[in-house]
Amino acid sequence: MENKKFNRTNYCGEPTAADIGREMTVCGWAARRRDLGGLIFIDLRDRTGLLQLAFDDNTARDVFETASTVRGEFVLCASGILRERSAKNPELPTGDVELEVTKLRILAKSETPPFEIIENSDVNDALRLKYRYLDLRRPDMQKYIALRHRATKVVRDYFDENGFLEIETPMLTKSTPEGARDYLVPSRVHAGKFYALPQSPQQYKQLLMLAGFDRYMQIVKCFRDEDLRADRQPEFTQIDLEMSFVDVEDVLAMNEGFIKRLWKDVLGVEVETPLPRLTWKEAMDRFGSDKPDIRFGLELRDISDIVKDCDFKVFSEPVQSGGSVRMIYVPSGGALPRKQIDSLVEFVKTYGAKGLAWTKLGEDGSVSSSFAKFLTDEQNKAILDRAQAQPGGIILIVADAQDDVVFAALGALRCECAKRLELTKEGDYKFLWVTEFPLFEYSEEEERYVAKHHPFTAPMDEDASLLETDKISCRAKAYDIVLNGTELGGGSIRINTPKLQADMFRALGFTDEDAQERFGHLINAFKFGAPPHGGIAYGLDRLVMHLAGLGSIRDVIAFPKVQNASELMTGCPDVVDQAQLAELGVELAKGVLDEVH
Ligand code: AMO
Ligand code: AMP
Repeated sequence: MENKKFNRTNYCGEPTAADIGREMTVCGWAARRRDLGGLIFIDLRDRTGLLQLAFDDNTARDVFETASTVRGEFVLCASGILRERSAKNPELPTGDVELEVTKLRILAKSETPPFEIIENSDVNDALRLKYRYLDLRRPDMQKYIALRHRATKVVRDYFDENGFLEIETPMLTKSTPEGARDYLVPSRVHAGKFYALPQSPQQYKQLLMLAGFDRYMQIVKCFRDEDLRADRQPEFTQIDLEMSFVDVEDVLAMNEGFIKRLWKDVLGVEVETPLPRLTWKEAMDRFGSDKPDIRFGLELRDISDIVKDCDFKVFSEPVQSGGSVRMIYVPSGGALPRKQIDSLVEFVKTYGAKGLAWTKLGEDGSVSSSFAKFLTDEQNKAILDRAQAQPGGIILIVADAQDDVVFAALGALRCECAKRLELTKEGDYKFLWVTEFPLFEYSEEEERYVAKHHPFTAPMDEDASLLETDKISCRAKAYDIVLNGTELGGGSIRINTPKLQADMFRALGFTDEDAQERFGHLINAFKFGAPPHGGIAYGLDRLVMHLAGLGSIRDVIAFPKVQNASELMTGCPDVVDQAQLAELGVELAKGVLDEVH
C-alpha cells in the first residue's frame, strides 16, 4: 500500500557525515540523473541544496526500475538510509554522503525544461522571465529570495523592538504626488472617477501621526509609472516609517541603528555609526551627484577661476555665461589608451556634455593634451597644480554653461573610470547621509518650481523666510541615505502647521482652491493638532539587492516586470472584454482600439 503521507524528515541540503546510518525521507526535484549500468545516481534538489540518491545492486528491483525512468525536474519522494559516499564531492555541502534509497515515488513528471536549472546560468532574460517559476528553482535565485525574507524579518524585529506599529494603508487611494505618473483604477460605482494606486503611503502615514500612532512602519507596495532602470520597477516595495516628536537627528539616529542591525544580522558585517554626512551642496561640488559613491576618490575640482578669461572659448564662454569648468583627476588613468579616452568622450556626451577635454601625463614625463595648446603655460600649470597631477595620471575636464550638465557628466564619469580601472571591491559598503537638499527645483517642463522631495517637506528653520523670496536657495529638512552610489532611501521632517503648509502650496504655484481640492483632507487635518513629525522610506528591493551583492533589483523580486513594464510570465498588462470596460464606463480611444483588437 502506498503511504498517503510524505513524511519528509529532512531538507536535501541538511544531511552531513554526522547523520550516517540514519533513516530519512527527502522530497524535491531531480536535478540530474547519471546512469552507470548497474548504478544510478540522482541529484535531488530542494530549496536548501542537493542530495545524491544512490541506487545499485542492493536496491530492490522495482525501486531501481522506477529510478531508471526519472528524468530532469521530475518531482520525487525518496526514503532510505544515509551512507558515506565513495567518491566525495568537496564542492557540495552534502558531498560526503548519499541516500541509499529503499523507497522511491515519482510525485510528478516534467517535460524537458526550456533551460537547464543550474546556478549562474547564462540563459537570456526573456526566457528566464517567461518561465520564472523554473528560473526561481535555480539555487542562486532561491538564495536571493530567502535573503529577502531574512532581511524583511530583521526590519520588522528592529522596528518592533523600537516601539513601531505596523499599520496598513489603502491601495485604492487619491493620488499622492511623488513625482511619477500614477497607476489609475477606474471606479465602477462612481463611473468616470478613478482611484490611484499609491506612489507611497506619504499622506496616510502623516495622518497616522495626527491620529496619535507616534511610531509607524509598514512594508508596503508602491506603484510608479516611470521609466524602468536596473534599480527601478513600476511596482516596488518600501520600508516606510514615520515618527512623531522628532527632528532630523532623531530620525537619522533611529535609522543608523537599523542599518547597523540589518547588515550585522544578514551579512555579519559591522557598519560603523554614526554614518558620514554630506550636505547636498557638498555632495554636488565634490562628487557631482546627490547619491555619491564614496568608495573611491576622483573628486571634482572647479577650475573656472583659472580659465574664465582664457582664449579657449570652450572653457571661457561657459564660465562667463554662469556655468563652470570642472575636472576630475584619475591617478592611474594615464594608462588609458587613446581609444578608451575617445569612448569616455562619447560617454560624457550621453549626459549632455558637449565634449571632454583631457591632459594625459606619461610615466616618462611626456604630456599630451586635447586643449593645452589653447591655454598659456601658466594656465596649464595652474590646472596641473590644482589636480596635483603626477606622471601616469590623466585630467578630464567638462565645461558647460549649465552647472547641472557639468555635475551630471563628471559625476557619472568618475564612476565609469572607477569601473574601468576596477577601483571598487566587493563587500565594501560605504553608507552616507546626504542632507540639506534644496526644498524646490525648477521644472522646465512645467515652467514652475516643484517640490524636490514632496510638498509636505519642511524648510530648514533658518531658511523658512526664503519660501517666497529666494526659492532656489531655500534648503529642506530632507535627507537621503546612500550606499555605494545608490539612493537607498529618503525622507524628511514634515510641515506640521496649516499656515506653513498653505505657504508651501502657494510657493508651488497652487491657488488656495487647487490646494484645497487636491490636499484638503490634509490641510483640514492639520487644524486639529498635528504633532511635529518626520520619517523616511527605503526601497526594500534596493536594500536586498545590495545585501545580495547584485546589480539589479530584478533578481530579488520573485515576479518582476521588464523594461516596458510588462510581465512576461502572465503576459500582463492585457486586453479586457468590452463588457468589462462598459461596466466601468470606460471606452478606448479609436486608434488604441484598432491596435489591441
Ligand atoms: P522616495 O520617492 O524617495 O520617498 O522613495 C523612497 C525610496 O523608494 C525607492 N524607490 C524605488 N525602488 C524601486 N523602484 C522604484 N520605481 C522606486 N522609486 C522609489 C528608493 C527610494 O529612495 N514618501 C517618501 C518618503 C518619505 O518622505 O518618508 C518617498 O516615497 O529606494
Ligand atoms: P575643439 O576645438 O572643439 O576640437 O575642442 C578641443 C577639445 O575640447 C576637444 O578635446 C573637445 O573634446 C573638448 N571640448 C569641446 N567641448 C567641450 C566642453 N564643453 N567641455 C570640455 N571639453 C570640451
